[in-house]
Amino acid sequence: MINVAILGFGTVGSGVAEVLTTNGALIDQRVGDKIRLKYIVDIRDFPDSPYRDLFEKDFSVVEADPEVDVVVETIGGCKIALEFTTRALKAGKSVVTSNKELVATHGYELLQLAKEHGCNYLFEASVGGGIPVLRPMSNCLASNQIEEVTGILNGTTNYILTRMIQAGLSFDQALKEAQANGYAEQDPTADVDGHDACRKTCILAALAFGQQIYPEQVPTQGIRNVTLEDVAYADSCGYKIKLLGRCMQTQEGKVCAFTAPHLVEGKNPLAGVEDVFNAIAIHGNAVGDVMFYGPGAGKLPTASAVVADIIDLAKDPNRDRRNAWGPGAADLVVSPDGLTSRWYVRAQMSMERARAAFQDLQPLARSGAPVGEVAFLTGAMTEPELRQRLQDVKTGSVLRVLA
Ligand code: HSE
Repeated sequence: MINVAILGFGTVGSGVAEVLTTNGALIDQRVGDKIRLKYIVDIRDFPDSPYRDLFEKDFSVVEADPEVDVVVETIGGCKIALEFTTRALKAGKSVVTSNKELVATHGYELLQLAKEHGCNYLFEASVGGGIPVLRPMSNCLASNQIEEVTGILNGTTNYILTRMIQAGLSFDQALKEAQANGYAEQDPTADVDGHDACRKTCILAALAFGQQIYPEQVPTQGIRNVTLEDVAYADSCGYKIKLLGRCMQTQEGKVCAFTAPHLVEGKNPLAGVEDVFNAIAIHGNAVGDVMFYGPGAGKLPTASAVVADIIDLAKDPNRDRRNAWGPGAADLVVSPDGLTSRWYVRAQMSMERARAAFQDLQPLARSGAPVGEVAFLTGAMTEPELRQRLQDVKTGSVLRVLA
């Protein structure tokens, strides 16, 4: 018998209980043992829940119970979640989580702690919701040197951008819909301002390149400034605007990682990733390009990945998953300023002035554009070079074009 305790009965935690219940017989058959949900720790009361007999307010009870093998942390954030994860691992209990903020911020120390105490810290659900990506990247692509990872990593913003593109909804209307569907973080600024995608980029980069990458090392821009005008200009030349998390290894062995909205050409499979779906494109030096695609947020998709980690542990509890990475370093991550790409610019300037500054620009048009507004795609250049050419021009939008 494998005993499980869930910490936090929110969207994901309740989804984990539901999947363990609905698919219980199937899961037990696959594991060859019984997985029992023994506790749900939450400070709130759930008198009408079918799991009401399992609720416990005091984590110490779980911590001290030698029967508990696996703790599922679906609290989120880095406060209580860090404390309880640390205590669980110190008590020799493996921890499974969907908490990308905690993994991105404290992954190295928690993985070390798990190792010291002969248990595991697993977090497949922390990136891409229900998409199997971390374990496939670590295991199935283990023969490769990973050179670059590019992902649509946030379901909420992808949903918002899709609804803006397809239904002409305002940003606020689309955000409300995403929240109603249970995709958004408790504080949706983490989605909208790119922090959630940044954390997932850090986790992918750590697994791909073997060292902790901290969110504060990764320049991050969200979608708050993307307008329906930008969406229309992008559409006019066959591009979609997507919030991308990107990381790549430089020739000097450093890591370049950043999160920003990009123009993605229609023929790139990432352009067709819509609604709450996420996709992660990985370039390995042997395999070439592979892409993982699926639902990036939501109760049951995320629970699907959490429960898969529980099953993995239940089949072979003490095996070291070797999913750890090395410590971070202040000089490990370099700025994307050195990266060359084409750019989309929407600005207040004359086309003559734009042409003088950018000889090989591609002008863009949209209906209803006000006098004085221009939009264009530039040739390939770095961001500092772009800024220098724009100098004091008032820009409405400057977005990188994915090569
Ligand atoms: N708020 C996150 C998203 C949830 O929208 O992608 C899944 O990590």
